Amino acid sequence: MKNIVLIGFMGSGKSSIHKPLAQKLGLRPIEIDDLILKKSNRKSVEEIFEKDGEQVFRELEIETAKDLKNQVDCVIATGGGVVQNKIILDYLKTNGTIVYLKTSFPEAEKRLAREGKTRPLFKNTKAAQKLYKLREPLYNAYSDIEVQTDGKNIEEITVEIIERIH
Ligand code: S3P
Repeated sequence: MKNIVLIGFMGSGKSSIHKPLAQKLGLRPIEIDDLILKKSNRKSVEEIFEKDGEQVFRELEIETAKDLKNQVDCVIATGGGVVQNKIILDYLKTNGTIVYLKTSFPEAEKRLAREGKTRPLFKNTKAAQKLYKLREPLYNAYSDIEVQTDGKNIEEITVEIIERIH
C-alpha cells in the first residue's frame, strides 16, 4: 500500500494520529522529527534549532524525506514546515497519499498549550500566525485529501482519513 503522509500546521495532530492510524491499517508509523533527531547529535528539535540553527534542521529534513522516498506501507507524520521545501513534498509524494489535517489557528494554539511542549517556531503568537497564513495555501496545494480536525477527537479523525483514502 502507498504511504499515508500527514501534513499540517503545528498542533494539527499529525503526531497524535499517525500511530493509531498506522495500527488500524496494519502500516508502520514513522515520524520525520524522530528520524531527524537520530541523524543529529542533539536531544531535541529545540536543541537543533538553538545550537545548529533552522537551516541545519531543514537540511536534515530534506535528507530524511529522501531516505523515505522508496518506502511503502508507512504512515508518515511530517513536521509543519515540510511544505516550505517543494523537494520534500516531491520525495514524499513518490509513494504517498498526502493528507492535510486542516486545523484553525486558535484550535492549534489551544492544543499546543494543553500539550505543554515548546516549539521553536511557536513561541510568539503573532509570528506563528504569520507562518500559518504563509503555509495554509501550501498545505492546500500539496494535499490529495483534506480533513478538518477542529472539534474532532483522534478516533473521529482517524476513521475519517480511512474512509477518505479508500
Ligand atoms: C516545525 C514543526 C515541528 C518541527 C519543527 C519545525 C515547523 O513539527 O518539525 O519544530 O516549521 O512548523 P510539528 O509540526 O510536529 O510541531
